[in-house]
Amino acid sequence: MVSLSKESEELIREIQELKEKKKAVILAHNYQRPEIFQVADIQGDSLELSRAAAKTKAEIIVFCGVRFMAETASILSSEKKILLPEKESGCPLADYINVEQVRAMRKKYPEATIVCYVNSSADVKAESDICCTSANAVKVVNSLNGAKQVLLIPDKHLAQYVAKNTDKQMILWEGNCPAHHQLQREEVLKMKAEYPEAKFMAHPECSPEILELADCVTSTSGMLRYANSSSAKEFIVGTEEGMAYVLQTACPEKKFYSFANTMICHDMKKITLQSVKDALVKMQYLVEINEDIRKPAMNCLSRMMNIV
Ligand code: 13P
Repeated sequence: MVSLSKESEELIREIQELKEKKKAVILAHNYQRPEIFQVADIQGDSLELSRAAAKTKAEIIVFCGVRFMAETASILSSEKKILLPEKESGCPLADYINVEQVRAMRKKYPEATIVCYVNSSADVKAESDICCTSANAVKVVNSLNGAKQVLLIPDKHLAQYVAKNTDKQMILWEGNCPAHHQLQREEVLKMKAEYPEAKFMAHPECSPEILELADCVTSTSGMLRYANSSSAKEFIVGTEEGMAYVLQTACPEKKFYSFANTMICHDMKKITLQSVKDALVKMQYLVEINEDIRKPAMNCLSRMMNIV
């Protein structure tokens, strides 16, 4: 569906060759640019990509996503070389909390179980009890037998969404994903008025005022499953604008409307075909985690992966 320039076609060919030669695998998050999917071996949401990183036999993983995703791959597969094609592909949500702040919260709430969203740095994971993603946050929190208080970091909206679906006491942290947080109720209502038959799918990183308008609250790949199985023909996509392309490709007979002007993750879009090629040629940028952080961070991730 994506129309490619001659230059892009040539880059795709070169990347495919390099990938084979170097025994590399390319993982791409659903928010990547459409042309990146042309070279990706596996595409998915955070949970699916974590599983793929843990399972692959490839020696090199080129992670087309943001830093915390490449770090997660490195925690799970320390024997492999994990490359992040753009050094500066970060996550403003992950930056909302650092390890000292987690330690301070542990002191303040000694009884609380600390659940960290996968959108967090490796050292924050190392200080947390268990990880979660947007696909499994409710399930993870509800699996915590005996835990009365749960501190979910760093996304306040995800924690508010979980709070609606659990009887545990949730403690919130003031972090958010700017792309999701800025979506306004009026914008959604306007879109709903324009497309009255459309189902509204929203990511749990959106605010509670947005989520109460949604027909379905789910992860990016959850949206794919919902749109595929729904009898509806039209959908409003309440997540990063790139997801509309993924949905449209998977369901060409249906229509998808995104908030293309506002819901953009600029960090995800930093990665280009040229940077993927450079990553494979120059073996850059290597993401490595110190063993003293990797081990506890691995425990945090493994606990999650044993549940879901
Ligand atoms: P998903 O796990 O739903 O793909 O979300 C990742 C993310 O970073 C959302 O902003």
